[in-house]
Amino acid sequence: MTLSLYERVQEAVHFLRARSALSPEVGLVLGSGLGAVADRLADVLVLDYGDIPHFPPVTVVGHTGRLWLGRLGATAVAVLQGRFHYYEGYSMEEVTFPVRVLGALGVRELIVTNAAGGINLRLRPGSLMLIADHLNLMGVNPLRGPNEERFGPRFPDMTAVYSPRLRALAREVAREMGLTPEEGVYAAVSGPSYETPAEVRMLRQLGADAVGMSTVPEAIVARHMGMEVLGISVIANMAAGIADRPLRHEDVLEAAARAAEILAEWLARLIPRMRAHGSSESRGEGSV
Ligand code: HPA
Repeated sequence: MTLSLYERVQEAVHFLRARSALSPEVGLVLGSGLGAVADRLADVLVLDYGDIPHFPPVTVVGHTGRLWLGRLGATAVAVLQGRFHYYEGYSMEEVTFPVRVLGALGVRELIVTNAAGGINLRLRPGSLMLIADHLNLMGVNPLRGPNEERFGPRFPDMTAVYSPRLRALAREVAREMGLTPEEGVYAAVSGPSYETPAEVRMLRQLGADAVGMSTVPEAIVARHMGMEVLGISVIANMAAGIADRPLRHEDVLEAAARAAEILAEWLARLIPRMRAHGSSESRGEGSV
């Protein structure tokens, strides 16, 4: 018997509810090398993705796959440490399954983080960028296929994927820390090869400030379910052809890890305040 996506999500939710009384309100997806914030959670329960029903199998060696449930201040938080990338060969349904589970668990605000290449010359390795909008250049959409009305509408609005309310709040918290994050458009490509210099010039002409291989499918699915989304890119490198040297994955990870501490501090201050002005009007139509 094959279960529908909805049923598989529900089974994962039941599994988690049986193990933790916590009802997470805020969700967080951590990108490559950005694990630091998870260590700050109190009352924490950590589960391997492999132990949660219907999570895709973690096949890639060296990739962490753990779900953390805990508290930051008074806010209950679910953290996805490690994500499933499209370039690894996962289907879009697999890539976005964990975010579906968070939505069905009751998460109303989702923060998605990633490491990205800077296209806008203002963005240097180590810069933090609030995602203002995105270009989906992955060639696929995670909502393709029959629509599950219990998750959300067939044609969800994408006018404000990245919540203006949460971006303003994130900027306010950053200002208190003496940080001035940039804001820009994130272009998602499927990867896994990095871009050519010609592709980077094309992306710049299209209006992209940064480029990466994740986040957009998760943001689309989160909006489908009516979650409010905040996206943050850690600029790990200048995109191909901008600096006069080849891109190496190790350098990308190293630069991301260096910025991860600052990001962790930012998120730790931001998350407890995210619900403060929450109102149902600021949310989309989708429901669970
Ligand atoms: N391109 C695409 N994805 C990336 C990059 C990049 O330069 N850096 C980190 N992720």
